[in-house]
Amino acid sequence: MTTLVVGSQWGDEGKGKIVDYLSCKSDFVIRFHGGNNAGHTVINKYGKFPMHLIPCGIFNPKIKAIIANGVILDLEVLKSEIEALEKAGITLKNRLYISPRCHLIMPYHKILDRLYEEAKGKAKTGTTGRGIGPTYSDKVSYNGIRITDLLDSKVFREKLRIQLSIKNRIISALGEKPLSEKLIFEKFLIYRKKINPFIKEPYPIIENALKDRKNILLEGAHGVFLDNDWGTYPFVTASTVLTGGVTAGAGIPAKSIDSIVGVVKTYTTRVGAGPFPTELLDKDGEKLRERGVEFGTTTGRPRRCGWFDAELIRFASRINGYTGIAVTKLDVLDGFKKIKICTSYSLSGKKVRYFDGDAKFLANVAPVYKTLRGWSKPTKGIKNYSDLPKEAKDYLKEIEKQVNTKIQFVSTGNNRNEIIKL
Ligand code: GDP
Ligand code: IMO
Ligand code: MG
Repeated sequence: MTTLVVGSQWGDEGKGKIVDYLSCKSDFVIRFHGGNNAGHTVINKYGKFPMHLIPCGIFNPKIKAIIANGVILDLEVLKSEIEALEKAGITLKNRLYISPRCHLIMPYHKILDRLYEEAKGKAKTGTTGRGIGPTYSDKVSYNGIRITDLLDSKVFREKLRIQLSIKNRIISALGEKPLSEKLIFEKFLIYRKKINPFIKEPYPIIENALKDRKNILLEGAHGVFLDNDWGTYPFVTASTVLTGGVTAGAGIPAKSIDSIVGVVKTYTTRVGAGPFPTELLDKDGEKLRERGVEFGTTTGRPRRCGWFDAELIRFASRINGYTGIAVTKLDVLDGFKKIKICTSYSLSGKKVRYFDGDAKFLANVAPVYKTLRGWSKPTKGIKNYSDLPKEAKDYLKEIEKQVNTKIQFVSTGNNRNEIIKL
């Protein structure tokens, strides 16, 4: 089985939790896009880990983890993530493979990310500041530096020299201090030493795993509405979040994917700027943020919170071809007297769809709500569907009906084992 896990909203749906759970039965786990703008939380018997680059499935001691070519790498972050796992007793030797095709997030990318945001002022995207947009821009405009370049000191130094001759001019023009080629070069040689044992072209490993029908888990990052093409542009990220990103980002044929699981929070959150039709700016929004501990795993920013938006998830399910969904954070809704689901959008009295317009359009649509009764009995840690309160079952059934996709898993807590399998 090849299973793909996709974030279905604006990120932070609980992908880390679901991937950690599913990895128990997997032979391989693969990240195929994005960078350390992702922050996937894993809580299991080894402790609590905010994972940014290394696939969350690494905690299954039998699994092999692959950072495939579509991922962009900040080597400082990767180095400290490797060190944190080693300190926790997780062996990475002969278990972690990093594609030499991965592009590097360079120090100038992070500075440019900030400078672009500052220049845009109120119109800024609210990026994570990790240099994601500028790194992917350099990748597609043939100005990127890859791991394979770093392996050859002469090639790396020359590419760095050329890039700095361009980037330093931009950085200086925008009032910042130019960067030192020597300092960056020396720093990257230290990173290279740390990651060198893990660099290996993963394509033949993946090819054989597919041939041998191994269990492969693909760990998506971010969320559908941050997708560079189908998200709320320009309030998006730079990579392809959708199912289609797997072939380019990991070298896996689309027809090899057997199961596509959309991860869906029982409410909606968003970090950064951009339209959010069901956003709550009232006490309910605050309650969701507090109870759900909705603060960014990567940046610590408070997440904007709102009701479940079925119009979004219907679209996410169709465009990705979900075979099922994993609904997370049911326990966060415990104690709400009334719970709302946005069933559709209206604009000037007419029903409209997500894809009818752009971000400006979405900022003006009005959510049409259906109100359901909440439940008072706690659902935290429940493992059997039959133990759920009737109102919680009704809420889940309504989600399934609205989204027209089967619920495969219901998560009832942040720990690996707090889950209902349907
Ligand atoms: P990801 O980026 O999609 O992996 O999600 P994050 O890790 O950024 O944010 C999800 C947060 O919710 C993390 O703190 C998880 O530990 C937590 N979480 C995941 N599933 C559940 C759940 O079912 N209930 C509760 N209360 N917390 C959960
Ligand atoms: P995970 O994988 C939540 C958002 C940023 C910003 C926009 C662009 O943990 O779900 P970027 O730094 O990518 O250029 O920022 O995208 N963003 C995320 N929000 N979770 C994420 O990842 C995100 N990755 C990017 O907040 O609005
Ligand atoms: Mg996250």
